[in-house]
Amino acid sequence: MLVSIENIITKDDVSRLRDVINSGQWVDGNVTSGPQAAKVKRNAQLEESSDITRKAGNFILDALQSNPRFISAALPHKVYPPLFNRYEGGQTFGNHVDNAIRPVKGQDFRIRTDLSASLFLAEPDDYDGGELVIEDTYGSHSVKLSAGSLILYPSSSLHRVLPVTRGARVASFFWIQSMVRDEGKRRILFDLDTTIQKLNIENPDHESVVDLTSIYHNLVRRWADA
Ligand code: NI
Repeated sequence: MLVSIENIITKDDVSRLRDVINSGQWVDGNVTSGPQAAKVKRNAQLEESSDITRKAGNFILDALQSNPRFISAALPHKVYPPLFNRYEGGQTFGNHVDNAIRPVKGQDFRIRTDLSASLFLAEPDDYDGGELVIEDTYGSHSVKLSAGSLILYPSSSLHRVLPVTRGARVASFFWIQSMVRDEGKRRILFDLDTTIQKLNIENPDHESVVDLTSIYHNLVRRWADA
């Protein structure tokens, strides 16, 4: 399941965030890669354990926490501290699958990557190429969102970033360990929650709102590890 979340941060916040990360130190993107990914990855990354990365990442974490669509789609248990990357001058990241388990350097923190997230921080018109292409059971999906919008996709899927042939593609990326490990179950919960929210808007007094909400919570109780 691919879920896009438009404008998870505002355009003003995007430009403030860009200013903050621009002032940081950028290094070869392969500092976080395994040997297999390193063969196909060409980009730059904001130095992982710097104050700037932490500060910019915390801003994103706050935005995620207050976004109902993100919570509903990811049912997050743990979120990896956001990282930042930049592709320019033909840089690209070939086909790969993200590592299943990710520790945080120098910390007693690691997560199982159930979902991968990319938050676009450059407008699509400002660069050519740079699409995130995700393969799933329904085929191949090409994603290039406006600045401030986020895509969530299963970490188990094969994906790549096409070469950036003009301008620069700047994004934040991170992983989520969900309270619900199974993707199929997560999808059912997301669909059910979305339906309840819709009904709640269209017909808030309908007695089924309470019944469906109770079914939702009972499924979460059955399937989630908190
Ligand atoms: Ni990846």
